[in-house]
Amino acid sequence: MTYPELQSELRHFGLELPMADDLSVLAAALTFAGRTVPNRFVVQPMEGFDSGPDGEPLELGFRRYERFAAGGAGLIWFEATAVRCDARSNEQQFWLNENSAGKFAELLENTRRIARKENGHEIVTVIQLTHSGRYSKPVRGSRKPVIAQHSSVLDAAHNIPADYPLITDDELDRLQDDYAAAAKLAARCGFDGIDVKSCHGYLLNEILGAHTRSGKYGGSFENRTRFLRETIQRIGSEVPGIFVTSRLSVYDAVKYPWGFGTDKEDYKKHNLTEPKRLALMLQKIGVPLLNVTIGNPYFNPHYNRPYAKAAKGTIHYDEHPLLGVVRFVDTVREMQQSQPDLPMIGAGTAWLRHLVPKVAAGIIQSNSAALFGQGRCSFAYPNAPKDILTRGAMDEKQVCLACSGCTNFMRAEQPAGCSIRDRAFYRAV
Ligand SMILES: Cc1cc2nc3c(=O)[nH]c(=O)nc-3n(C[C@H](O)[C@H](O)[C@H](O)COP(=O)(O)O)c2cc1C
Repeated sequence: MTYPELQSELRHFGLELPMADDLSVLAAALTFAGRTVPNRFVVQPMEGFDSGPDGEPLELGFRRYERFAAGGAGLIWFEATAVRCDARSNEQQFWLNENSAGKFAELLENTRRIARKENGHEIVTVIQLTHSGRYSKPVRGSRKPVIAQHSSVLDAAHNIPADYPLITDDELDRLQDDYAAAAKLAARCGFDGIDVKSCHGYLLNEILGAHTRSGKYGGSFENRTRFLRETIQRIGSEVPGIFVTSRLSVYDAVKYPWGFGTDKEDYKKHNLTEPKRLALMLQKIGVPLLNVTIGNPYFNPHYNRPYAKAAKGTIHYDEHPLLGVVRFVDTVREMQQSQPDLPMIGAGTAWLRHLVPKVAAGIIQSNSAALFGQGRCSFAYPNAPKDILTRGAMDEKQVCLACSGCTNFMRAEQPAGCSIRDRAFYRAV
């Protein structure tokens, strides 16, 4: 596809995407919370599921971050890292604890060193702290869901019986201690920022949409946002020298009353009233940056990662991927423009392949986001930021094909990477 063909495809669907010919906006630095991101590219968190027994990064993890660092992005958002062993979605998911912290510090130092050596810049780093909630699977092959509310939509999709117990308020109080402990370790390792992950159907995202839960973490907007706000505030006050942020799902596209940011009458439409209110609250408690996302990769992957080919074993949704790309970009823009002084980041553009550069520049130029995030492309073509910044283009032979190969590895509980562009290391499953 060419840019004119993309434009005509957009016209065909009555859609628009911001595009700019001048790519120089992508090279501009951005400063927040006393840190300067040297350009507008962000490596979005991409789990590799290749940690050692204590959750520590091993060779494949070091290699992944070396590739990201060499690729030129100014901000690297380290992948989902569990705050407790039983919070992992996979036996080999990163897990930050006293035994693994030394390896995380080494990983971070090595990543920074490569960015300096290859690109002559200092990167900004964020680590994503997670509890996998409904998708917890700390031991291979054995699901151990932790749920905040029953959902006739998601329970049915994932075979959760009606009498399955909910995580209690006391357990949630104690979980805040685990976040604080992991955040302290992350600060000790040297990360610039902590992401209290609240997206993609995992526990904290589920709490945001827990309309049917009773007690202090469910029901009203104040209650549903309490866990996230309190955890962020607690980390902010107990862990000096770092900033606290969140990767926030602002639109779950799960039928009311079981989702966040979803229109009450029609789950196919978003209603960002609550997410905007939350973003404002988060900014007031010191959050200097928001990573905005949508959808649930286990339930409606076409919202979260528009693809050319569905992941194995998932329902095929009959939606043109361009609609998914535009939905993602539009949703992030609505959030960003409601709060222009809080820098935001989006994702979801991998399907555009080599046509990303003008769209990325258009997004920044039109203030549809402050930074441009790439997920799957970072696996396939980690040098894309460097190529866009230095050559003004991407190499069609290296782009992500949005084939869901990387997701297939995750679902097969194997280390994840690109089965097309990096097949010497990742053989397709
Ligand atoms: C294999 C794989 C691993 C991912 N791991 C994470 C993760 O650790 N944390 C997270 O917030 N999102 C994760 N994502 C979602 C991506 O960060 C990104 O939001 C998504 O792929 C859509 O953006 P893209 O079109 O640039 O790929 C993952 C996606 C894939 C395919």
